[in-house]
Amino acid sequence: MGASALILAAGEGTRMRSRLPKVAHEILGVPMVRYVVEAARESGCDPIVVVTGHGAETVEALLDDVRTVRQEQQLGTGHAVQCAEPAFAGRDGSLVVLSGDSPLITADTIRSLVEARESSAAAAAVLTALMDEPYGYGRIVRDEAGRLVRIVEEKDATDDVRAIREVNTGFYCFDARVLFEHVHALDNANAQGEFYLTDVIDLLNAEGLPVATVQAPDPRETLGVNNRAQLAEAAKVLQRRINLAHMLAGVTMTDPDLVWIGPNVSLGRDVTLEPMTFLLGETSIQDGCVIGPGSRIVDSVVGPDAVVDSSIVVGSCVCEGAKVGPRAYLRPGTVVRPGAKVGTSVEVKNSIIGEGSKVPHLSYIGDAEIGADVNVGAGTITCNYDGRRKHRTVIEDGAFVGSDTMLVAPVRVGAGAVTGAGSAITHDVPAGALAVERAEQRIVEGWAERKRKQDDEE
Ligand code: UD1
Ligand code: CA
Repeated sequence: MGASALILAAGEGTRMRSRLPKVAHEILGVPMVRYVVEAARESGCDPIVVVTGHGAETVEALLDDVRTVRQEQQLGTGHAVQCAEPAFAGRDGSLVVLSGDSPLITADTIRSLVEARESSAAAAAVLTALMDEPYGYGRIVRDEAGRLVRIVEEKDATDDVRAIREVNTGFYCFDARVLFEHVHALDNANAQGEFYLTDVIDLLNAEGLPVATVQAPDPRETLGVNNRAQLAEAAKVLQRRINLAHMLAGVTMTDPDLVWIGPNVSLGRDVTLEPMTFLLGETSIQDGCVIGPGSRIVDSVVGPDAVVDSSIVVGSCVCEGAKVGPRAYLRPGTVVRPGAKVGTSVEVKNSIIGEGSKVPHLSYIGDAEIGADVNVGAGTITCNYDGRRKHRTVIEDGAFVGSDTMLVAPVRVGAGAVTGAGSAITHDVPAGALAVERAEQRIVEGWAERKRKQDDEE
């Protein structure tokens, strides 16, 4: 396509009432500005430059793959463009300007904006939208012939202008050279005392330079986020858009309003997602899985036909046919091998649960390597932390760990070995051996009856 892109993201976002810069606020686990960067990239824009300013360090930390320029003082959108001029030195042709606070824009719409300018050889093309509630947006003022005359900000508008439902979306395609020729001529004689990028349209009109407009196919795509209510609205639109695409690709959702999927999640066919499920980060759920109800999976891979019920899975891999939950917590570095089970109220961290092995109830497994076909009895705990350092536990193939075993690491249970229920295992157990660590059971005949009598006499 050959267009360059400039994303404006230096504003504070006062209306968010937040410590965090506005464009760093997340939707479905991804900062707003990242959506705009991805849409620009997908549309073919190159280079992509982002103007940062308020909370610049925080915002720049989210943008290690694009060039950033600083706007030290936030004197308005027109001023932001002035600050970016050096980044486009010598670049002719289309320059798309995008708002970092409008995360729902699509690559298709960016492309159509560029096309509209280039096909009509206009100096600029403005993306507009018809909004039922235009409050807060700049309004599109047209003459009798329908030509865009100027853009008037809410705060500068008369009642007549406020009644206009066609708004400026904050997305434009300019002829780069024309833009930078005019952007320095802006003044800040307006209600907000800012240098408005929108006033460039006025300047172009004054010189008789043609300006095109494109209306967004769906006004929801150009929603600008200025406060937390709009943040929630944008999140809702995005949630529906993402869920619809997955459903059409073969995913079942019992109630799509109660499923939240991030933009970087991939789902196979015949996946079933039960209500109150969150799939976030870089996550892949493969064919035939059943996830939820009530599950959160972040930065993880879940192999074919696995089940994750009412559980939290972070930075982990659940392999083919494995079962997790209900109420399990898999922390980073966990691998549940094919056909294995991590059951009710079990926490696992940085451990491998071998093929076909089971940790069915109430256990903590940390820094452990469990072989294949191992059974870990209810309530077993790997005591991996001595107060200073973490140590590893190894349980070899086919071992049987009795209920309520404390495995004091570093320790190894050999292949096929057995530990007695309730044992604190502090030494390695050889393959095939039994390790028991507990007092012999004593029987005191008639004790209960004697005790009762004694109590009655007191
Ligand atoms: C802007 C437009 C308005 C449009 C609306 C669409 C202007 C003057 N107004 O208004 O016509 O309807 O977007 O959402 O352009 N920014 C900077 N530096 C600054 C000021 C802002 O980088 O000095 C960035 C912000 O971070 C934000 C974007 O520009 O991402 C828009 O700024 P914002 O203050 O939200 O403008 P609006 O009042 O929404
Ligand atoms: Ca805005």
